[in-house]
Amino acid sequence: MQEALRFQPVDAEPVDDADIVVKPRYLRRVTENVARGLSLTIRGLRKAFGDNEVLRGIDLHIPAGQFVAIVGRSGCGKSTLLRLIAGLDAPTAGSIAFGEQPRAQDVRVMFQEPRLLPWARVLSNVEVGLGRERSSADAQARAERALVEVGLGDKRAQWPSVLSGGQKQRVALARALVSQPRVLAFDEPLGALDALTRISMQQLLERVWRDQASPRSW
Ligand SMILES: Nc1ncnc2c1ncn2[C@@H]1O[C@H](COP(=O)(O)OP(=O)(O)O)[C@@H](O)[C@H]1O
Ligand SMILES: [Mg+2]
Repeated sequence: MQEALRFQPVDAEPVDDADIVVKPRYLRRVTENVARGLSLTIRGLRKAFGDNEVLRGIDLHIPAGQFVAIVGRSGCGKSTLLRLIAGLDAPTAGSIAFGEQPRAQDVRVMFQEPRLLPWARVLSNVEVGLGRERSSADAQARAERALVEVGLGDKRAQWPSVLSGGQKQRVALARALVSQPRVLAFDEPLGALDALTRISMQQLLERVWRDQASPRSW
């Protein structure tokens, strides 16, 4: 990632030679998605772990509503970049700014492993994504709607251990969606799934991305 990013979109700002490639996808209903999403602007980002300088001079602007894929070889810093964007780690230097000040629940990450709580049933695992809003009166109803959104409404009372890998990832997606985030970062969430499950998950993610453009009450 030392060589930074290369961009293909016309409205994303290019930087130098790529170790990583950022691929955007555009949405037909762009105006609606822009309303829901947050733009992201990264300037002069640097991250070092001791002597290991993983990110250096990263400049990136992603307009609100875009679905952007970051591609690069293993160890080049993709996860590090996503962790910084999600606020899970702090930059060594540089800035990361969103179009508006996000609420804590506005930025969510989904990881390669579903990271479900084994001692909690599926519905409770989704409610975890509500954070402090978990104690609100409609928390359970919101979690149920998120489960339906990912096609797992009938699994609400199951334990994570009885689910397939793809189903676990869908629960993780519901947990990420339940707070209606405005930025959703995926760190290779489909990497451990078989090819057919991965295709259906890709379609699900695309549908959710489009659907999330329309503001909802959950
Ligand atoms: N918490 C950490 N402490 C020390 N080094 C780290 C840490 N996280 C990542 N790294 C290092 O940063 C580099 C990039 O890692 P990572 O962002 O996970 O790459 P990618 O996701 O592109 O495979 C690797 O050399 C890795 O060892
Ligand atoms: Mg990674």
